[in-house]
Amino acid sequence: MAADMSCSSYNNSNRSQSDLKAYRASIIHSIGDPSEVEKGASYDYFPDGLLIVERGKIRAVGHANDLLPSYEQTLEIIHYEEALITPGFVDTHIHYPQLEIVGSHGEQLLEWLEKYVFLAEGRFDESGHAEDVARRFLAELLRNGTTTALVFGSVHKESVDAFFQVAAELGLRMIAGKVLMDSNAPDWLRDTVESGYKDSLELIQRWHGKHRLSYAVTPRFAITCSREQLKSAGRLLTEHPGVYLHTHLSENKAEIESVAHLFPERTGYLDVYAHYGLVGPRSIFAHGIHLTEHECAHLGHAGAAVAFCPSSNLFLGSGLLDLARLEKHKVHVGLATDIGAGTSFSLLHTCNEAYKVLQLQGHKLDPFKALYLATLGGARALRLDDKIGNFSIGKEADFAVLDYKATPLLDYRIGGANKIEEKLFVLMMLGDDRCVKETFAEGRSVYRRAGS
Ligand code: GUN
Ligand code: ZN
Repeated sequence: MAADMSCSSYNNSNRSQSDLKAYRASIIHSIGDPSEVEKGASYDYFPDGLLIVERGKIRAVGHANDLLPSYEQTLEIIHYEEALITPGFVDTHIHYPQLEIVGSHGEQLLEWLEKYVFLAEGRFDESGHAEDVARRFLAELLRNGTTTALVFGSVHKESVDAFFQVAAELGLRMIAGKVLMDSNAPDWLRDTVESGYKDSLELIQRWHGKHRLSYAVTPRFAITCSREQLKSAGRLLTEHPGVYLHTHLSENKAEIESVAHLFPERTGYLDVYAHYGLVGPRSIFAHGIHLTEHECAHLGHAGAAVAFCPSSNLFLGSGLLDLARLEKHKVHVGLATDIGAGTSFSLLHTCNEAYKVLQLQGHKLDPFKALYLATLGGARALRLDDKIGNFSIGKEADFAVLDYKATPLLDYRIGGANKIEEKLFVLMMLGDDRCVKETFAEGRSVYRRAGS
């Protein structure tokens, strides 16, 4: 247990109790990467815990019996029986315009894009449609306990305006960007080097750093961007050092062959991005399944991140991520659903898929590592770990309340589990949106399950 987190030195007499809210339940959060620290030092767990929130920020977390004597009896406490509070989940790669094509049958990446994705994304020039889907999408994230995501819009700037507008109304910490794609896509879904630059710039000026929002320059992938457009993406990053770079990398073998064919002058897929200045500490690459050793080392040196998308990688038959190799090269890794190629919004369920992807390669995903990937690891990959990802004092109070009794099977299985590692693992293997009783963003309830 980290003493500085559980027993705050805060002088309660200086503050009005009405600024404080307390949540009592079992509480767990990651405080380190289990691959880097001793397993027991990677998390804090309080079987009867108290999370104290002051004006949207974490004030204290610890054992209820340790913390309660420091507060007056009038402290407002919400008590959840048979529940586990975790930090809000962080989804490091997802496409909001793909909501209506989740679970589309039968294709691998390139054919799936042509057959389903481009058609769906074509409708996002209509602000009304974009706003409707953004609302449904964000509601779905919150139903699943996800409070932060790195999000692809469509090629239309209207899609990102609508997304940020709704995210701002809900007070969520989100990162998003307009897709850049001027080549190898239907005419009606392309931008140009000039319009892509201008629209991205406008969106950065309007949204980046406003509320809890950040902008990501978002070339779809090397196949759909000309050299000039990749150069212009690099220019946007140089001109706006705080913004992110978000794209796809080495997901599918046919995709990699196509990149080699389109960019014969480069030594590999990552080298295309590196040549245009797109590989740095604020770069997040989705997938990275078929990377070479050299590319993994390059990502590690650059401080870049990979979004691990197991549900998507299985659904599209793309392949199995070699997590151990990325970790060997110190590449930041976060977990991601990659809706609409992923088939579930739930990061609990995504932990289940990650477990199986690693099993197939002879590795065992520890539940504390899975928790880390879905929370603090994701926050680190997004360079947001000074703000979110766990319950360190002063961080933003984004959290989820998970119900141990959400289904009869969970109730039965968790009822027979003694240790937190077993309860957590069972939640990941059997749980999904049904487990999320309530979700909080900056200390405000933003989703409550019907009947809770
Ligand atoms: N590569 C380029 N675009 C996409 C997309 O929309 N989804 C996935 N999974 N991979 C991509
Ligand atoms: Zn994707």
